[in-house]
Amino acid sequence: LSVPQIRNLLNHAFHQKNISAAWLSPSNQESKSRMSMRMPSQSLFSKSVALLFSKRSTRTRVAAETSAVLLGGRALFLGSEDIQLGVNESVRDSARVIGGMCQGIFARVGEHSEIEELAKYSPVPVINALSSLWHPTQILADLLTLHEHAHLFDKNIKALPDASVVPTRRKPTTLPELPNLTIAYVGDSANVLHDMLVTYPRLGHHLRVASPDKYRAPKEVWDRVVELGCDKKISWSADPKEAVHGADVVVTDTWISMGQEAEKEQRLKDFKGYQVTEQLCKDGGAKDNWVFMHCLPRKKDEVDDEVFYGPRSIVFPEADNRKWTIMALFDKFIGRWDNGAERD
Ligand code: CP
Ligand code: NVA
Repeated sequence: LSVPQIRNLLNHAFHQKNISAAWLSPSNQESKSRMSMRMPSQSLFSKSVALLFSKRSTRTRVAAETSAVLLGGRALFLGSEDIQLGVNESVRDSARVIGGMCQGIFARVGEHSEIEELAKYSPVPVINALSSLWHPTQILADLLTLHEHAHLFDKNIKALPDASVVPTRRKPTTLPELPNLTIAYVGDSANVLHDMLVTYPRLGHHLRVASPDKYRAPKEVWDRVVELGCDKKISWSADPKEAVHGADVVVTDTWISMGQEAEKEQRLKDFKGYQVTEQLCKDGGAKDNWVFMHCLPRKKDEVDDEVFYGPRSIVFPEADNRKWTIMALFDKFIGRWDNGAERD
């Protein structure tokens, strides 16, 4: 996505989130005034999105299924135990057949090449719901969450009203601008970090990464980072304390991504000393008001309970925002997508 597309999607997600909060509020469910309320976009009305998931998911799946309902459509969960793909049928044939009946495909795959093949042969849009290399929808949720918490980084920015206490028919406020931040990532160079590397620098933020030397980003990811000119705003070391220095935000992810279970023992050894704790961030000199983010699911290895459940943590608003950003993507790229087919 280009920078204008990212900004547009974030604003759209925030707007739809506000409208949906009012629409779904229990006090509005039965009221007559609901008739005059703004509804979430209904761009998926009578349309279906295939959720082609070959790996587990809580957030991405629930976000996709619930947002498809809000948009007036339907999401079909097609797990690897359910369909012929991978056992009796190729990616190419599956893409053509599923894309012939659904209006979009949201796919969680193993190797990234599977997403590329799906996109090549699908007649409808394909959105990456996580692959071995990338997790683009996660970064949209992370960005929305950071914008919503902009007041934590700049005292001149007003905090947003708490959605649970504001009058539900208020006009949605605009998404606050985000000052340029220093974002530290401590842990494995995996799909979530890779999307941070190609996104945050283009929006003006600096990234400071710490991972053991043998776990640095693969060449194809780094080539893309350089191609986009992002490398100038990224520093990389093997020392977690160095990475958190001056950080406004500290981020981590599991050390053992889905599919790497056989490497667990070795990885636990290699990442020793990389756990995010108050002490690490104090010793490394993170800013006093640093906040903590994690895509979830989380293990205690990479972050302790004090940080994860503490006041710095914005992990649950971050998880909630998976829904609104996926809803914005479905609305813009599936609901409003037009393949130019002739209509009656
Ligand atoms: N963050 C994330 O993608 O979570 P799930 O694997 O539960 O979808
Ligand atoms: N890096 C993790 C992200 C999970 C959302 C994985 O791929 O398992």
